[in-house]
Amino acid sequence: MFGLIKRWKALEAKGIMGINRRNADYVLKYNDRHLYPIVDDKIITKLRAIEAGIHVPEMYGIIETEKEIDKLQSIIGEHTDFVIKPAQGAGGDGILVIADRFEDRYKTVSGRIISHDEIEHQISNILTGLYSLGGHRDRALIEYRVTPDQIFRSISYEGVPDIRIIVLKGYPVMGMLRLPTRQSNGKANLHQGAIGVGVDLATGVTLKGTWLNAKISKHPDTGNAVDGVQLPNWDGFMKLAAGCYELCGLGYIGVDMVLDQDKGPLILELNARPGLNIQIANDCGLTKRTHAVEAHLAELEAKGITESVEERVKFSQGLFGHVPTKAEA
Ligand SMILES: Nc1ncnc2c1ncn2[C@@H]1O[C@H](COP(=O)(O)OP(=O)(O)O)[C@@H](O)[C@H]1O
Ligand SMILES: [Mg+2]
Repeated sequence: MFGLIKRWKALEAKGIMGINRRNADYVLKYNDRHLYPIVDDKIITKLRAIEAGIHVPEMYGIIETEKEIDKLQSIIGEHTDFVIKPAQGAGGDGILVIADRFEDRYKTVSGRIISHDEIEHQISNILTGLYSLGGHRDRALIEYRVTPDQIFRSISYEGVPDIRIIVLKGYPVMGMLRLPTRQSNGKANLHQGAIGVGVDLATGVTLKGTWLNAKISKHPDTGNAVDGVQLPNWDGFMKLAAGCYELCGLGYIGVDMVLDQDKGPLILELNARPGLNIQIANDCGLTKRTHAVEAHLAELEAKGITESVEERVKFSQGLFGHVPTKAEA
């Protein structure tokens, strides 16, 4: 606990953004309330993304009512692996990642065998709103299971790592790689016990990590170093994230992406209230960066200029790198 306070104090000097500032100066200011459903419902996000030509995990089907639970078999069809999730869930709660079939049962990523009845029960829980924001009735989404790219094999434990980039008015401001651990059950959510690893925005090289609020440099399950890893296709991820501004219209978002071994970069979800732990993972506050973007935007506005996705990414990469470039070194 003491160490944590010390760390947040040290971060404050680095322009850390607290929850009140995030809500007042960013979420409320830049995110139009009426646009929230686009990001708060994963089915709507998916349909929007498909419309915009942005790649997402394929949707196998939707279950909306208890009566429709019977449709599960036909939705799954011949697929041996798939994911069931609450459309309005958050923080990894209520997500079931099925990796294989086992006779007439199913196997989760961690090897747990579950019956068809258990799956139906889980879907019924999703529908009643057990996992949704505000406890409202929800829909269950059944989708393609992502298989992470080989690059993550040594630094991740089961499950699918995801890449989170915070985007302000279309400008990436900070990035983080989230790695599932034995504890997080194949999910990359920090509060499930995943590791957050900072990412140098300029290059896509990983920095040190944070796990359960402690600083780490090795994965607790694999023992391998999490820093110094070059994420593949980094410019592609930056452009994908920056383009989500046009996709949803929200000015302050966390864009969650994955790298599938066959399908490449995919958008998993968008978040209108992205968490602040990304600052610990990067050992850097958000405020200076968001201010830099806001100052840049004010300048552009005075000149009547709006920048393209490529220009925005270039701006962020020029300013928000951690690793000194050759010119600086
Ligand atoms: N289609 C999928 N295939 C494999 N793993 C997934 C899939 N969807 C989600 N996950 C895992 O679950 C985590 C949480 O999923 P996400 O869709 O971001 O929901 P939440 O809003 O609960 O965070 C992801 O970070 C990933 O590790
Ligand atoms: Mg998520």
